[in-house]
Amino acid sequence: MPRKILVTSALPYANGSIHLGHLVEYIQTDIWVRYQKMAGHECWYVCADDTHGTPIMLSAEKEGITPEQLIARVHGEHARDFAGFGVAFDNYYSTHSAETRDCANEIYRRLKAAGLIETRTIEQYYDPVKQMFLPDRFIKGECPKCHAKDQYGDNCEACGAAYAPTDLIEPYSAVSGAKPELRASEHYFFKLSDPRCEAFLRQYTSHGNGALQPEAANKMQEWLGAAGENKLTDWDISRDAPYFGFEIPDAPGKYFYVWLDAPIGYMGSFKNLCARRGLDFDEFFQAGSTTELYHFIGKDILYFHALFWPAELAHAGYRTPTQIFAHGFLTVDGAKMSKSRGTFITAESYLNTGLNPEWLRYYYAAKLSATMEDIDLNLEDFVARVNADLVGKYVNIASRAAGFISKRFAGRLTVADADLPAIRAIREAAATVAELYEAREFSKAMREIMALADIANQYVDSVKPWELAKQEGKETELHAACTNALNLFRLLTILLKPVLPAVAARVETFLNIAPLAWADVGQLLAAGHQINAYEHLMTRVDAKLIEKLIEANKASLAPTPESHSPQRHGQQQQAAVAAASPWEPFCAIEEFNRIDLRVARIVKADHVDGADKLIRLTLELGAGEMRNVFAGIKSAYDPAALVGRLTVMVANLAPRKMKFGLSEGMVLAASDVDGQTPGLFLLAPDSGAIPGMRVK
Ligand code: 2FM
Ligand code: ZN
Repeated sequence: MPRKILVTSALPYANGSIHLGHLVEYIQTDIWVRYQKMAGHECWYVCADDTHGTPIMLSAEKEGITPEQLIARVHGEHARDFAGFGVAFDNYYSTHSAETRDCANEIYRRLKAAGLIETRTIEQYYDPVKQMFLPDRFIKGECPKCHAKDQYGDNCEACGAAYAPTDLIEPYSAVSGAKPELRASEHYFFKLSDPRCEAFLRQYTSHGNGALQPEAANKMQEWLGAAGENKLTDWDISRDAPYFGFEIPDAPGKYFYVWLDAPIGYMGSFKNLCARRGLDFDEFFQAGSTTELYHFIGKDILYFHALFWPAELAHAGYRTPTQIFAHGFLTVDGAKMSKSRGTFITAESYLNTGLNPEWLRYYYAAKLSATMEDIDLNLEDFVARVNADLVGKYVNIASRAAGFISKRFAGRLTVADADLPAIRAIREAAATVAELYEAREFSKAMREIMALADIANQYVDSVKPWELAKQEGKETELHAACTNALNLFRLLTILLKPVLPAVAARVETFLNIAPLAWADVGQLLAAGHQINAYEHLMTRVDAKLIEKLIEANKASLAPTPESHSPQRHGQQQQAAVAAASPWEPFCAIEEFNRIDLRVARIVKADHVDGADKLIRLTLELGAGEMRNVFAGIKSAYDPAALVGRLTVMVANLAPRKMKFGLSEGMVLAASDVDGQTPGLFLLAPDSGAIPGMRVK
């Protein structure tokens, strides 16, 4: 029976680039959705940019554009990056839309009618210069615990302490630098602590209900507290103007804050799709709907999706999510993504470097499971695994058989052997692989498929088409061997298609067949079927491309966007934490002290015959000690102009034998790392310094 399924991935903020951390989720969801579609179900995949909030408003202001202009530009970038990785949303929309506004207003109206909205006056830090209330992440100051300076208003990145912005010592506004003032303001709250919400959530989050992964359900029991001990707190759903978002209908100057806005973007995006495709929105969202609703999210936003969002939906009279699938974070080479190490890799840079997006799709699939465990992108393993599995095992089967079919049999197949053990093995395993896709156990599915590819290769190795091709009278065997091999390859392509949609499309062209569906494992290619000429399906990963990628990502060290609330720092914030300093790795003072820098006088400077960049310097280091140093400064200095000048040299640099003689040290000069400002500038000490003085 075809199921009706609606699937979402978390909405990315509209003020940051998509990076490989984000892609874990979108690729995971896309594979799952593609599998459902191949299996014949009606499955819709929607997402949108999360466009509202103070950070986006301030980013736009900084750029001198309107928030609308900013979110329009970022929407284009995000859509481009997702498409580049084959993430095929049925709709990629924006929370800044009429549909999302209507849904937010309706949910608010219904929650209010149910008595679940209340107002309270709270005190918050206010920036008197910027004339706005400050989100916690825009207040900085000294950590009350470890006294580290310049820490955010919600937690300390130096010692990890969590606190309220009012606990900060000497707080200041990160927007204007002004000292913030505490001001009272009326806020709107969703009464999550209401007994109705608690009772609903105890049931909804229970292991028995099955909406959450076991480890997530455990976490919820912790957050809910023991029976009789309600640990839920009411949620502040409003923010004061100025704010970029939706004004609360009956509250001028108050705006819906993120959790009465962003997840409603799931509904808004779907509503927009319904209008375009003639679908029935209510069928998917009304209470008691028999359709299925799944949210793929990062574990950092579990609290909101497992507690706040279902409670909001249930008490506004809508259906609740069937299941919430949380995944872990991405580490690169075992560590948090880091801008200074070049492992905070943007989707755009990956594609621009010329890496094949399906390599990453496969690698992630080979690592993903149904749990919330973090996954590691080990770059060496990435190269090895993609080359071994996709090129060495999978593509290899086709490349060893296709040429003979084209050249010797005019591109026509003969009858395939349905009883061939390898063919039977794949067809029998297809049901298991399907179950693994359904259960999001992609790494197990990939292992299973590669084991089947091994069996297929063993078959090809055993029949040796390349030897049959050389022997007289072996035409029939050769034809059968290559036909079987291409059938094996087609079956493996069906199993890999959710992960490798672009390769699968090329295989469909090469094999001259209609788009493959899961049920096609039931058939083999007919005798006499005509295939097209084989074209290369996938190249090997060149490790040099990975080096290039890392270098490309070392270049951009812009600060990451602020996030909306303390609980939401996970995936988005990782890089910011790891890249707290662009100067890492630091040099210890002991390491620096090993370099003996001295003031030196240039007593002689000469051109070097045959060297277009070098000047030979004779340097006096004090106490009559002379050094011969070749310096690459000819482009900037005339030797005659250097004589008599003081400069700074590395006095204990190991002597280096050069083509022109021995170089006994190095002089220091400044130049622009980015090459934007040309020129080379020799260092000079202040007046009064004399040769031999130590520089430190
Ligand atoms: O945490 C985030 O990245 C949010 N932009 C995700 C929101 S998910 C959904 F609720 F909008
Ligand atoms: Zn601290």
